[in-house]
Amino acid sequence: MSRNLPTRSFSLHRSVLSVPAINTRALEKTYSLDCDAVIFDLEDSVAPEKKEEAREGLKAFFFSARPLENKEKIIRINPLSSNFGHADMELVLALEPDAVLLPKVDEPQDVMTVSDLLSDADAPETLRIWAMIETPRGILNAAATAEFGRTPGSRLDCFVVGLNDLRKETGVLPQPGRTYLVPWLMQVILAARAYGLDAIDSVFNDFKEMDGFDAECAHARAMGFDGKMLIHPAQIEAANRHFAPDEAATREAEEIIAAFADPSADGLNVINLNGRMIERLHLVQAESLVHKARLIAERK
Ligand code: COA
Ligand code: MG
Repeated sequence: MSRNLPTRSFSLHRSVLSVPAINTRALEKTYSLDCDAVIFDLEDSVAPEKKEEAREGLKAFFFSARPLENKEKIIRINPLSSNFGHADMELVLALEPDAVLLPKVDEPQDVMTVSDLLSDADAPETLRIWAMIETPRGILNAAATAEFGRTPGSRLDCFVVGLNDLRKETGVLPQPGRTYLVPWLMQVILAARAYGLDAIDSVFNDFKEMDGFDAECAHARAMGFDGKMLIHPAQIEAANRHFAPDEAATREAEEIIAAFADPSADGLNVINLNGRMIERLHLVQAESLVHKARLIAERK
C-alpha cells in the first residue's frame, strides 16, 4: 500500500510582511516591496474603535484600479469569538484573498468552524486558511490541528508562530537564541511537517536591530521554518536571503535530478554521485529546492 505523503504548498513564504489594515500609507508601500506575501492585519495592530475604518480601507485597497500583483495576499481577522470576527469574515468573503489568517488557534475546531463557513458561502477552493499558533493550548494541540488540515476541504495550509502572545501567556522572557522556546517551536514545525503544512516563524519586534534579526533568521532557517513573519520593510531583504536555497545547494540539487534522470539510474534507489550515496528520497528534496530557486529567479 502506498503511503499518503503530505504535499506542501509550492508558494514562496520567505518574507511575510504584516501591514496594519488601518495604515493607508503602509498599504500603498506594499506595491514597491519585495516580500513574498503580505498579511493585512485587522487584529492586534488595529485599535477596537478603528476596526470598521480598517475594513473600509482594506476594501478600497483590494478594489483599487491597481491590483497588488506577484505577492500572496492574506487577511488576518479578529477571533470569531470577538465582536469583530464575523464582520471580518464577511470582508474576507467579499475580497477573496489567497488566505485568511486565524489568530489564537487553540484547537482543530477553531479551523473547522472557518472551513465550514467558507464552504457554506461557496468560497473558491483557492481561498485557503492559515493559523496563528500563539497560545499554550495552540502549541499543545498543534498536531491535532495540523492533522485536521489533511481532511478534504479543510483548506488549512500554513502555521504562523506568534511569540508575542505566547510569551505573554507563558512568562517566557525574550532572550537571544530563544532557548526556552525552541522545544515549542520545534513541536510546531514537526506537526506542520507531519501533515504537509508550511511553517512560518514569529515576528522580531526590534526592527532597527539588524544583527539580532539576521541571527534569528539563520536560527529559524536551521530549525526548518519556511520563512518569517515581518513587521517592517527593513526586514525583507534578510528574510529573503536566509530562506532562499543557496547557490551551491541549488547546483547540487540540479546534479541529483540529472543523475536520476540518466538511463543508468533506471530501477535504482541509490546511486553514487561524486563519491556520495544519494537516495531517491533526496530526489524529492532536490526537486522541491530547484522549484523554489526557480520561483525566486522568476520574481527577479
Ligand atoms: N508595511 C509597509 N510599510 C511599512 C511598514 C509595514 N509593516 N512599516 C513601516 N512601513 C513604512 C512606513 O510607512 C514608512 O514609509 P514612508 O517612508 O513612505 O513614510 C517606512 O516604512 C519607514 O517606516 P518607519 O518610520 O521606520 O516606521 P513607522 O514608525 O512608520 O512604523 C511600526 C513602525 C512598527 C509602527 C510599523 O512598522 C508597523 O505598524 N508594523 C507592522 C505592525 C503589525 O502589523 N503588527 C501586527 C503583527 S505582530
Ligand atoms: Mg498575536
